[in-house]
Amino acid sequence: MASQGSSPSAVFYCRGLSERVPDKEERAEIEKIIDDGEEHTFYVTNTKECAASVKWFNDHFHGLGTKKRSIELRYAVKCQGQRELLKCVLAGGGGVDCASIAEMTKCLEMGFKPDQIVFSNSCKMASHMKFAEAHGIRLTAADSISELQAIKRHYPSAKVMLRMWTATPGGTAGGALDLSKKFGARPGEMAALLSAAKELGTDIVGVSYHGGSNPAKWEEAYLVSTFEAAIGCLEEQIEFGFTPEYLDIGGGQARRFGPKYRELFGKLLEKLPENVRVLAEPGRCLAKPIQTRVVRVMRVRENDVILSDGYFGGMRSQREYHQHYLLPAKRPEARDGSEYSGKMNVVTLYGPTCSSLDWFQKDFPVPASLKPGDWIAWSGMGSYVDKKSSRFNDMPQATGYKM
Ligand SMILES: Cc1ncc(COP(=O)(O)O)c(C=O)c1O
Repeated sequence: MASQGSSPSAVFYCRGLSERVPDKEERAEIEKIIDDGEEHTFYVTNTKECAASVKWFNDHFHGLGTKKRSIELRYAVKCQGQRELLKCVLAGGGGVDCASIAEMTKCLEMGFKPDQIVFSNSCKMASHMKFAEAHGIRLTAADSISELQAIKRHYPSAKVMLRMWTATPGGTAGGALDLSKKFGARPGEMAALLSAAKELGTDIVGVSYHGGSNPAKWEEAYLVSTFEAAIGCLEEQIEFGFTPEYLDIGGGQARRFGPKYRELFGKLLEKLPENVRVLAEPGRCLAKPIQTRVVRVMRVRENDVILSDGYFGGMRSQREYHQHYLLPAKRPEARDGSEYSGKMNVVTLYGPTCSSLDWFQKDFPVPASLKPGDWIAWSGMGSYVDKKSSRFNDMPQATGYKM
């Protein structure tokens, strides 16, 4: 490695948000980037992992149950807009979930057809609705009468799924981002929405929900009860004279459920009329493994370490979701795969800006030998990282590389 001061700089490879540690090929790529003179935070997108993510979805959500039904992928672009991943989604027969003009524009430019796009934001700006209207993007969501009125005004051709509230177990304190705190019509509110839609002449075509992002405490029973509640909402729509065509189970899927999804949704889909298409909007579980983020050590003082990336950069989620990048029992590895065997110090990790609020993890074990000019590489950093990064101090954004 290039020399930094008196001793050569080291790169420590750690498990980030996924269990994967960069393989040999990825380590070589990372060290080449550093040797070529990169001095700020950067990330490497692994194109093999992008293809593997889409394959994972198709393997677990296609051809389910006795009728071999499929849950259709509508990847949540908000999580990660990496073109390599979007290309794999398109090639794998999937579509996208978009929340804004910019996301819709990007996906249309990349070749997604309007009917492969769900404008799943249930509280939309007028100009964004007009854009969807003009570009033939029909499928959207709503969870309030004011939204239905706005749709009537700006987006009359919309086909609307009513977004349903869910009882996210553990809520945000349980490690999940409880989206139902903000979105979703509560039980008992659906009838008023359906009456309003009838009056407005709005086309209600199904139900959507999101059971919570990064659901640390999800259990099978919750997946079942939520899906069954959605079927109840579809039945209510039929009673009001609508013809449901979609059930959108949103995002929040987790890799750890793996094959259980096939079994579970195989049974659940048997309960659903065959004319109803099922969509899913996973973000995190597909995007997380595709990127490794590499940060530079800028200062080490006692138990405080300042890095080139922090809370106002890509490390925001660390504090927001109470996640831990590195399991304390795991030790960083070197390029050759050997574990760091020296003494570890437990430190607080700070970002590079002028704010003392710019810390993102306390009690984090780092090698006691860590010094300015060293690097830490975290794998599994592809979801909600750059997308949430701010420009405080006008710090440079992370540079993206791909392999
Ligand atoms: C409407 C909607 N769909 C899908 C997602 C993706 O969720 P996740 O990344 O947890 O899979 C989100 C995340 O906020 C969302 O708001």
